[in-house]
Amino acid sequence: MSDLSSQIIGLGLESSCDETSASIVIDGRKIISNRIYSQVELHCEYSGVVPEIASRAHLEKINNLIKMALDEAGYKFSDLSYVAATNRPGLIGSLLIALQSAKAISFALNIPLIAVNHLEAHLYAPFLEGNEPAYPFIGLLISGGNTALYRVNGPGEMELIGKTVDDAVGEAFDKVSKFIGLGYPGGPIVENLAKESRVKKVFFPKILTDPEDTRFSYSGLKTAVINYIKQNPDQDKSEIVYSFQERALELLVRRLFTAARKSGIKKMVVAGGVAANGRLRELIEAERKKNEEVLIPSPLMCTDNAAMIAGISYQYYIRKIYNSFDTDVSPKS
Ligand code: KG4
Repeated sequence: MSDLSSQIIGLGLESSCDETSASIVIDGRKIISNRIYSQVELHCEYSGVVPEIASRAHLEKINNLIKMALDEAGYKFSDLSYVAATNRPGLIGSLLIALQSAKAISFALNIPLIAVNHLEAHLYAPFLEGNEPAYPFIGLLISGGNTALYRVNGPGEMELIGKTVDDAVGEAFDKVSKFIGLGYPGGPIVENLAKESRVKKVFFPKILTDPEDTRFSYSGLKTAVINYIKQNPDQDKSEIVYSFQERALELLVRRLFTAARKSGIKKMVVAGGVAANGRLRELIEAERKKNEEVLIPSPLMCTDNAAMIAGISYQYYIRKIYNSFDTDVSPKS
């Protein structure tokens, strides 16, 4: 084992929605272990996350995941420099599991407790995969619960540029998939089905076309797709989801580059579950100019994980920004 005294060793915990995770990260950059337990199978039959089932499963898994993360890294509790957890946004009962565990560890070891915004943590994911953390950047956060665009000026300094006025983009993928009877989570299933049809045979209108508009909206597109399927039950479903996906992703790409070019910021980060979408990556690459940089985490790091929690928390640790034991959870960011 290398000299621990010169290293900052962080334990991150995550339980905001349907993944329980514990991770060890060194110096806010190097992932030593990142244990993730996905509850997808528990929620599958309901086609969405059931909060009561989620919090119970987090409670059952978290202690073992912490032990596995430490064992895999070859560290003991006493080696830790800080402990971090997501405390917002998310499901209240779920958030409590990681936060209370982190408080107990912080109290027992007398190490700093750091509670972070889950969305900010997502946008830190590329900095755990070899990219130097650097600010400012334009951050696009796209998941099942959020669709939002930020100017990120530094740790804890996220200026909202625009967000969805109704559904999140991942939610639209999930609902279209559910309506067709394809399963949950819908994103990867819809993406795979769309690959069977590379031509736009079905037309859905562009969303919010005013270039000055910074908002997102997905409920109109979702309803248009559902109505189209009802009226055209025999149409090839791959053609329908192809057109749906093109429209859904096109708005993300348009908003991202408009915000970057208006602000003069050349660095962009795209994160959250939907950022795993391969077609989105193609569309971004096609739009990107040579002097622009778009960082997108690997598909595993797009999903909820505790490495990103330990990672962003390092930025708070080195600035000596810690949380007290009366820190609470919140459903909002
Ligand atoms: O960030 P995440 O794991 O969880 C939260 O929502 O917090 O994101 C999950 C969402 C789901 O809506 C899922 O359908 C979507 O991300 N998703 C995708 C893809 N993979 C996951 N959406 C489009 N294409 C994908 N490949």
